[in-house]
Amino acid sequence: MPILEDDPYGELRFAGSPQTPIAGLPGDHSWIYLGTSSKILAPGLRVAWLVTSDKRVFDRLVTAKQSTDLHTSTLTQRLVWETVRQAGFLDGHLSVLRRVYGQRRTAMLTALQTHFPSGCRWTQPDGGLFLWVTTPDSVDTENLLPVALAEKVAFVPGAPFWIDRPVKNTLRLNFSNASEERISLGIERLGRALGKALQ
Ligand SMILES: Cc1ncc(COP(=O)(O)O)c(C=O)c1O
Repeated sequence: MPILEDDPYGELRFAGSPQTPIAGLPGDHSWIYLGTSSKILAPGLRVAWLVTSDKRVFDRLVTAKQSTDLHTSTLTQRLVWETVRQAGFLDGHLSVLRRVYGQRRTAMLTALQTHFPSGCRWTQPDGGLFLWVTTPDSVDTENLLPVALAEKVAFVPGAPFWIDRPVKNTLRLNFSNASEERISLGIERLGRALGKALQ
C-alpha cells in the first residue's frame, strides 16, 4: 500500500525544525508525493507535480490523468518553468513568503489573544497559511458565518474538514492574505461576532 503524501505547505515552514517528507525517509516503502505551485507561486496556474517511488504506479497515474483531462496546460507549465529556472528566484521568493507569513501568523495569534472570548482555543502553526480554532461547544460555526459576514469578516467553518463526524464548533482562519493591520481588525470583528453567539 503506497503512502500518499500531500505536501502543498512544506516549503512554507517559518518556525520550528525542518521536517523531512515521508518520501525522503530511508527505507524501501512505497510512496506518492504531491507538490503544487499553488501555494508558492500562484493558485491560478493550476500546475502541480507528483513523484512516486513506484514506476508501475507512475505509469498507471499518467494514463489515468491523460484520460481525465488530456494534460495540464503547457502554457502554464512553461510559465512555472521559466520562473523557477531563474537562478536564486525561488529560494529568494520562498524566504520572503516565510518571513511575511510568520509575521502575519504572529499578528493573528496576538489579535486572538486580545479579542477572542474565553473558552476558545487555537493552534500555533509553524508554517502554512492557516490556523485552526475550536470555540465553546455551544457555537455552530456555520451559524456564526452570517453574523461574521455582517461584521464584514469571513472564515471557513470547520465541520466539512472532519471525516467521520462534523465537529461544528471549529473553524479555519487564513493569515497569509491580509496585512497585519487588517488581520487585527478582522479578528476583532470576529471576536465580536463570537461574543454575540455566546450570549
Ligand atoms: C492540503 C491540500 N492539498 C492540496 C491542495 C491543492 O492544491 P492545488 O491548488 O494544486 O489543487 C490544497 C489547496 O488548498 C490543500 O490545502
